[in-house]
Amino acid sequence: MKMHQKLALICTATLALTTTAAHAAKPAQLDDGLPTTLRPANYKAKYPTDNAAIVRGEKLFRSDKLSTNGRACSNCHAEASTFGPNFTKPYPHPAMNSQARFGVPKLHLDEVVQVCLQGPLRGTPLEWGSPEQADLVAYLTYVQKTGKMSAR
Ligand code: HEC
Repeated sequence: MKMHQKLALICTATLALTTTAAHAAKPAQLDDGLPTTLRPANYKAKYPTDNAAIVRGEKLFRSDKLSTNGRACSNCHAEASTFGPNFTKPYPHPAMNSQARFGVPKLHLDEVVQVCLQGPLRGTPLEWGSPEQADLVAYLTYVQKTGKMSAR
């Protein structure tokens, strides 16, 4: 088994555990916090592509600022290959068992960020259109396009 497959297995288990815990604590918020995971109705995404935004996004990705358990996105995603087999395909695309978990066949990039943020990082979902969301999406789009984890 390749390293990234092992990582995916471990991480999927973590996601499942987190989901179970959240369900037990808050039965009213089933489906991984559906209202905040999926884009609000009529949401128009406008994300930056400039280098400053990419660099800010990378900093956020490598920090534990968004988590409540000291984790950073980069703990699990140290290389572009850790984002899974569909990552290089244009968004929205099938991801994270979205049909079973969220009732939609595909997820947008800003939506998969919300899933990882609320799951492994146990963080508060990002506000739609917030600067943090914009910067993270800018950075991840850069990684998706270039396969590089650092903009510097
Ligand atoms: C505990 C490990 C873990 C942490 C921490 C984590 N992720 Fe993930 N992430 C995963 C797993 C597992 C997948 C699914 C990989 C697969 O499909 O093989 C994934 C997938 C993704 C994908 C690609 C989804 C797709 O299929 O297009 C993105 C983008 C992503 N994560 C962003 C983030 C961001 C941003 C953070 C920090 C807020 C983060 N991740 C933190 C485990 C993690």
